[in-house]
Amino acid sequence: MKNTSLVSITDYSKADYMKIMEVAADFEKNSYQNLLNGKVIGTLFFEPSTRTRLSFESAISRLGGKVIGFSESGSSSVTKGETLYDTIKVVSNYAELIVMRHPLEGSARYASENSNVPLVNAGDGANQHPTQTLLDLYSILKTQNTLDNLNIFMVGDLKYGRTVHSLLMALSEFDATFTFISPDELKMPQEYKDYLNKKGLKFSEQKDIDEAVKVADIIYMTRVQKERFSDPIEYERTKNAYVLKREMLEGTKESMRVLHPLPRVNEIDTDVDSSPHAYYFEQTENGVYVRQAIISLILGLK
Ligand code: CP
Repeated sequence: MKNTSLVSITDYSKADYMKIMEVAADFEKNSYQNLLNGKVIGTLFFEPSTRTRLSFESAISRLGGKVIGFSESGSSSVTKGETLYDTIKVVSNYAELIVMRHPLEGSARYASENSNVPLVNAGDGANQHPTQTLLDLYSILKTQNTLDNLNIFMVGDLKYGRTVHSLLMALSEFDATFTFISPDELKMPQEYKDYLNKKGLKFSEQKDIDEAVKVADIIYMTRVQKERFSDPIEYERTKNAYVLKREMLEGTKESMRVLHPLPRVNEIDTDVDSSPHAYYFEQTENGVYVRQAIISLILGLK
């Protein structure tokens, strides 16, 4: 991982994932370690973020580093017509590592190929969100004590949801069985189903959250993302497709946990928050430790 950009979750191996889990667990025990010792990290967010940007910035601060960057492209020279190529060329003269979120699919790969320093993809359109996936893996490992042979239910916007795309690819290394629950308009794209078929992994698709959920180890909820729809009527038709309510979790495994990358709109009723199955807020805390691990390993500090 040293000096290696993280653009797609498949840039790293299963052994790399496990190393990140191990180092993240170390940071969970002791999060304040002055490993960066004043080193500068660039955080370039061309698209809004709460968790990803702030957990990266918290991770960098706890490691004794400094953050430069922007939280919206409107405060950068992009508004004057500067290209992504030029922005990356310039910022890679200022920082040891760049963390970038951008609305265009493929932008992170393009940026990494033109950066003089490693680049971490913090989400590129509907494509990938690999650091979210690594914190999801860490959350699953902590709650299930294993990553192997789990029953994973993915619910909601499986078409545009970059978090489910990256997570599917990572969990396919651990022989997961998948159930995809979505309306027809938001089904898991064929390329990801082909990916599972090639690996010989089982998956099924359904439209409703029903009795089948009793075998779930993880229910991974997602938001229907208004910002990804070109047709507002399609968004209006699908936005309330699923609302997970507490009574729907009755009869599920005691160890089952509900994850969500957040933000949520209305897809998890607030009455689930106090359920022992809810894990989405703890999941956000795990993001700090996992991002500390990713930064330290890329910069060769662990
Ligand atoms: N999970 C996630 O990516 O959240 P943000 O959009 O707030 O960063």
